[in-house]
Amino acid sequence: KRPLKVALLGCGVVGSEVARLMTTTADDLAARVGAPLELAGIAVRRPNRARDLPVDPALFTTDALSLATRPDVDVVIEVIGGIEPARTLLLAALANGASVVTANKALLAEDGATLHAAAEKHGADLYYEAAVAGAIPLLRPLRESLVGDKVKRVLGIVNGTTNFILDRMDSTGAGFADALDEATALGYAEADPTADIEGFDAAAKAAILAGLAFHTKVTAADVYREGITEVTAADVASAREMNSVVKLLAICELDPVGESVTARVHPAMLPRSHPLAGVREAYNAVFVESEAAGRLMFYGPGAGGAPTASAVLGDLVAVCRNKVNGGRAPAVTSYADLRVGGMGEA
Ligand code: HSE
Repeated sequence: KRPLKVALLGCGVVGSEVARLMTTTADDLAARVGAPLELAGIAVRRPNRARDLPVDPALFTTDALSLATRPDVDVVIEVIGGIEPARTLLLAALANGASVVTANKALLAEDGATLHAAAEKHGADLYYEAAVAGAIPLLRPLRESLVGDKVKRVLGIVNGTTNFILDRMDSTGAGFADALDEATALGYAEADPTADIEGFDAAAKAAILAGLAFHTKVTAADVYREGITEVTAADVASAREMNSVVKLLAICELDPVGESVTARVHPAMLPRSHPLAGVREAYNAVFVESEAAGRLMFYGPGAGGAPTASAVLGDLVAVCRNKVNGGRAPAVTSYADLRVGGMGEA
């Protein structure tokens, strides 16, 4: 079988791990796909940064658009993040018939419907397992395994940084600022932690989860959002007295009559007996309640180079198999007629 050509856009923490694994596990990937995979190029912003990767240095380019639209490229992997230029690059790639694998939660939460419509129009696949909860297989189960069931509620701990902070506040009695300092020192929180601690990151993930769970269009702007910066040591202590724990939850719900969907992110008290209460440190977990399946829980590492690369490679194999066998990903373009809002009706 002819090799499938893969363009990699972005070579940061996740991208470099994807490039490394594509090289070191090439034989396994070829066996799983049924054809060899070949890196066609790696788009980077800074060409001269030293990258200790087992790939041909000639693969690096700063011209992401030319790489994404090269006629011989079968699959484009995007791990740049942010809305632009990622959106322009992915729409151009899809228009060219390339399948897309992306980890870009911000873009999917803002404009996922446009990307899905473009994929549908051009007969391409669009997968993004890595966009929510890193390594945890979650979006494919919602999109494929549970598609014959009716999901009623999704409760998630989808931000590792805030879970680490709240877990430290619970286990050591520390205040928010000290726990944030510890998260920063250990590399969980970024230099600018705003997206995590103010709930923006979790809200983007909630929008993606709600869209897939309820077959409707939900954007980050539809999600009610409250971060954890106001949670005090006293709040955590009083939760403790009630045998509860404070977690930042993403809550996506279908109302009982099935006409409207709400999605919200805010700190919430959970009884210690709830399966999500035992999710410690920077782990993620998502609890799904569906009509026939009942209660399901998905648990694992929600971030990090290798765990996130695992999800990207799983998607890569799926879209490459479809290229080889002539299959297609299940479409996400037929949307239920539901009202969407942040907090539900009074
Ligand atoms: N900042 C995110 C987190 C990274 O803490 O979970 C993964 O999206």
